[in-house]
Amino acid sequence: MPSKPKLERSLPSDVGNWVHGDRFWGREPELAELTELIRDGANIAIAAPRRIGKTSIMRELARRLEGEFVAVHVDLQGAAGPEDLVVELALASREHRELHKRALDVFRNALGDVTQLQARELAVQIRSTMTDWQSKANRLLDEFVANTPPVVVYFDELAILVNRLLKGHDYRVTPARVAAVDQLMSWLRAASIRHTRQIRFVIASSIGLAPVLSQAKLSATLNTFTRFHLPPWDRETASGALSALANHARIGWAEGASDAVLDRLGIHVPHHVQVFWRSLREDARQRKVFYVTRADVERVYQTHLLGSHGHLELAHYEERLSTSLGSELAELAVDLLSETAIVGALSIPSARALASESEPQALRDVIHVLIHDGYLQLERDDYVFANKLLQDWWRARHRLTHRPLAQRGTHG
Ligand SMILES: Nc1ncnc2c1ncn2[C@@H]1O[C@H](COP(=O)(O)OP(=O)(O)OP(=O)(O)O)[C@@H](O)[C@H]1O
Ligand SMILES: [Mg+2]
Repeated sequence: MPSKPKLERSLPSDVGNWVHGDRFWGREPELAELTELIRDGANIAIAAPRRIGKTSIMRELARRLEGEFVAVHVDLQGAAGPEDLVVELALASREHRELHKRALDVFRNALGDVTQLQARELAVQIRSTMTDWQSKANRLLDEFVANTPPVVVYFDELAILVNRLLKGHDYRVTPARVAAVDQLMSWLRAASIRHTRQIRFVIASSIGLAPVLSQAKLSATLNTFTRFHLPPWDRETASGALSALANHARIGWAEGASDAVLDRLGIHVPHHVQVFWRSLREDARQRKVFYVTRADVERVYQTHLLGSHGHLELAHYEERLSTSLGSELAELAVDLLSETAIVGALSIPSARALASESEPQALRDVIHVLIHDGYLQLERDDYVFANKLLQDWWRARHRLTHRPLAQRGTHG
């Protein structure tokens, strides 16, 4: 029997970008802890696997702290160097008139009056005048310090910028590139110390910052940041989200069907819960039915999530590997993941065999990224997928092309 979707909360389905407000579900304990940290003046580095909701929680935190703190959201996804960070920092203040006016004053001598310019034109102008990014960045922060209420700067995708600086287009770490990363991270560290309890910094990225900094041997530059680990939703939260999503669509869950979704996923990455629901909803609408059964869950999992719909949503797991590792190491990562998905576990000798043609350090760097970003985890002496959906999707996607080591006749 379908359950009655009455008197319960409702959640609009959203599988795209970050969510906040009435599209944001759960996370009360995490928001309470983050709020306390911010009030205490801490700088925070949010570390979590992909698609857990890092950007969303930063946006929701900022929303809830409105009035008490001014939020400056800086997205570094497209930034190639620290000059871009300064440009984005200046532009990001534009949601706050007074602050933005002060930010533009920093560039007034070089630019004249630019208050009428559109954001992108302004970006080009600011970029063209920048000779010494550090002094401009420091002057911007000095303006931020003068603001009441105090400012929280949210740097999203910082690791993408750091990774780009460290590896360039050819994905080679050189001493000059390490020096550039050192300069950027040391500036951030110094700024966080200089403005303690005046400006708070919160950082997050879709690729892990820790593995990138460790490749540059610069992990210590993050030690003024409190590490905050954002876990997946627990089962109860995910179950509540599924009820609320169904309520919003006026669809009911037949006995055991919502549990079947949670069992299938194993770990409840919010994005995966949303993607699963979206597929179930589309399927129900197509068939003109108003509830979802356990059999529907299984059928939709196999045909939609492991097929083209899932591909649309999960392919970025593969794409992000190229972003963070470059094509050569991403190839090794894909190989390691395919072996794990098909065999069920990856032993250390198997990992070594797959990496035998790469440089000695490659395997360590790749595994570090795969674990940090939530693809694999260590179970006793083997690596296994951290996430069932990702494993099943990966297997479905790569089983035609990946030949497991045991079938190659060279592995012993
Ligand atoms: N608290 C939440 N409530 C509802 N949905 C959420 C929540 N957090 C994340 N999601 C779902 O996950 C998707 C991705 O969220 P978000 O972009 O915040 O994740 P992320 O961890 O920043 O991802 P990435 O690793 O790509 O940077 C959202 O579009 C939404 O479907
Ligand atoms: Mg994000």
